[in-house]
Amino acid sequence: MGIQGIPTYNTVQGSSATTPIHAGESLDDIRNDVGDCQRCKLCSTRTNIVFGVGNPHAELMFIGEGPGADEDAQGEPFVGRAGKLLTKIIEAMGLQRSDVYINNIVMCRPPNNRAPEPDESATCKPFLLRRIAVIKPKLIVCLGATAVKNLLEVDTPISKIRGKIQDWQGYKVMPTFHPAFLLRNPNMKKPVWEDMKVVLEFLGKPVPEKNG
Ligand code: URA
Repeated sequence: MGIQGIPTYNTVQGSSATTPIHAGESLDDIRNDVGDCQRCKLCSTRTNIVFGVGNPHAELMFIGEGPGADEDAQGEPFVGRAGKLLTKIIEAMGLQRSDVYINNIVMCRPPNNRAPEPDESATCKPFLLRRIAVIKPKLIVCLGATAVKNLLEVDTPISKIRGKIQDWQGYKVMPTFHPAFLLRNPNMKKPVWEDMKVVLEFLGKPVPEKNG
């Protein structure tokens, strides 16, 4: 019914900001709005803007930190070494990358893979919140401390908060370790698999036996 040209706004409350959600928009609308983004200093060193990928109706969303070198080169999130491990985790869950939605706190690579700075994540966050509002995932997995801190706006260490489903803005959020951390600490793969089993149970999906 809406009147063309007059956007309707709902809001998503972050604790520090209120983000306008453009009623009825699509992921393509958000990508168009991002455009050739120059809103923060990461634009001067990036090659490609790395938007999200996957199922626009996904029940399950993954949020990482930010693009690395491979992602910056290819314009797709989680395609490097850590990404290949994330893909293995998703497949071990009985899913495909195309079943879920994968994105990051920031869409542009921070130089030397440093963590995004507060102004950078704050600039990118409205676009993340808009993707969440469009997709409406049943559950969001936050991969690593940066994703947890920036989405949930808490300072709880990842080792304390992981594995426990959090309530956030009407969504369920599972914090777990980042796949890059698992590459350095393979013994942490087991707790992450335990977290993913909780996710599958929450989603009412079968929990496969994992080999390896
Ligand atoms: N690490 C992330 O957090 N995101 C990516 O897209 C790749 C590596």
